Amino acid sequence: MVYDVVVIGAGAAGLMCAVQAGYAGKRVLVLDHANKAGKKILMSGGGRCNFTNLDTSAQHFYSANPHFCISALKRYRPEHFVELIDRHGVEYVEKAPGQLFCAHSSKAIVTTLLTECEWAGVEIKLNTAISRVERRGDAMQLMTALGKIDAGVVVVATGGLSIPTLGATGFGYELARQFGLEVLPTRPGLVPFTLSDAWKARAAELAGVSVPVAASVGDTRFAEPLLFTHRGLSGPGMLQISSVWQPGDELIIDLLPGEDAERALREARQQHPKRQLSTWLGERFPKRMAQSLLGWHALPEDERVLAEQTNDNLARWGEQLNRWRLKPSGTEGWRTAEVTMGGVATDDISSKTFEVKGMAQLRFIGEVLDVTGQLGGYNFQWAWASGVACGQSC
Ligand code: FDA
Repeated sequence: MVYDVVVIGAGAAGLMCAVQAGYAGKRVLVLDHANKAGKKILMSGGGRCNFTNLDTSAQHFYSANPHFCISALKRYRPEHFVELIDRHGVEYVEKAPGQLFCAHSSKAIVTTLLTECEWAGVEIKLNTAISRVERRGDAMQLMTALGKIDAGVVVVATGGLSIPTLGATGFGYELARQFGLEVLPTRPGLVPFTLSDAWKARAAELAGVSVPVAASVGDTRFAEPLLFTHRGLSGPGMLQISSVWQPGDELIIDLLPGEDAERALREARQQHPKRQLSTWLGERFPKRMAQSLLGWHALPEDERVLAEQTNDNLARWGEQLNRWRLKPSGTEGWRTAEVTMGGVATDDISSKTFEVKGMAQLRFIGEVLDVTGQLGGYNFQWAWASGVACGQSC
């Protein structure tokens, strides 16, 4: 079998790349070892795929080479993807500013991509293991469950390591190393935190409670909700900060973002001296949370009315509410992480064509590269943009 382009991975980036190469007149084959195309798209965004973010720019991505993503993101913008799904009649909603989700189901995105593949004449072979990829002069050869396949260009779109049950493997990293590319250390990103015994039990008691917070590690801060779970902390704010968190780091969580708790408590003492601290907390937090907070931090004097609270005690509460310091014991890891931090170093990859510099017949796109977006639709936009740039230049 001979193809102009063989794409390894029928995920977001691989399908998008295949469509572009197909429309450019290339004979294109997409291979995947999974039994279905676009499994991560299907389960993303709680089944409704947050397929882009209208505010996409390089500042929402992590990479050792922060400029690498700029060119592709500028050339294929969120409006281009919106225009594509509009043509396929996919309905969508802006759930949070800039974050576009399917109105009904992620299936609409996979159907769009598979329909485009069909129109572009792309062949897709699922359930196909690939054992080797080799260079043959100016071309490539793949050893697969279907036999030997010759390709003018091989595009590696195998994604990251998160959620192995959805088909994730490190095959893309192995190929990168085989051809002399550096692979930067990988770790789970956009992943819930786990807590140790005392805090784990406290979080479990509050499982299901969500509160707006601002969470920081070092200079990085995200103001988005925190969700308590049976294992620890999740919700958008925790997922976001997990991408910069390293084992051993302390999280600083502002439970009252935008309010100086110590000052507000002093004002309350002046204006409502007979009020209890528990009442003040109850005005700001869900009831279960207000009660738990008292349990976590209480001293006997907290039982007294505000008029009898010392400045020191109010300062202590201010600190606990605006700067709750917590050391997670870890994260839930690859089992639930949405993305992979790190990956194939971009230094030896062209940001225009995604070919390996000096070896145009081998290319890497999507999440397998050391480019990882924040939460909010940025990761799919990267998959689309890198897929288009590569596919159009194959
Ligand atoms: P992707 O992972 O999509 O595809 C890789 C493909 O390669 C898979 O089909 C896999 O089977 C195949 N493959 C792997 N190894 C192989 C091998 N050895 N041989 C053959 N095939 C192989 N992002 C976002 O922007 N908005 C969102 O709402 C979400 N939500 C979300 C939820 C969950 C639960 C997860 C896990 C992830 C998200 N994401 C997200 C992230 C997003 O899904 C991710 O960044 C993109 O799918 C990456 O696209 P790729 O095409 O690079 O990899």
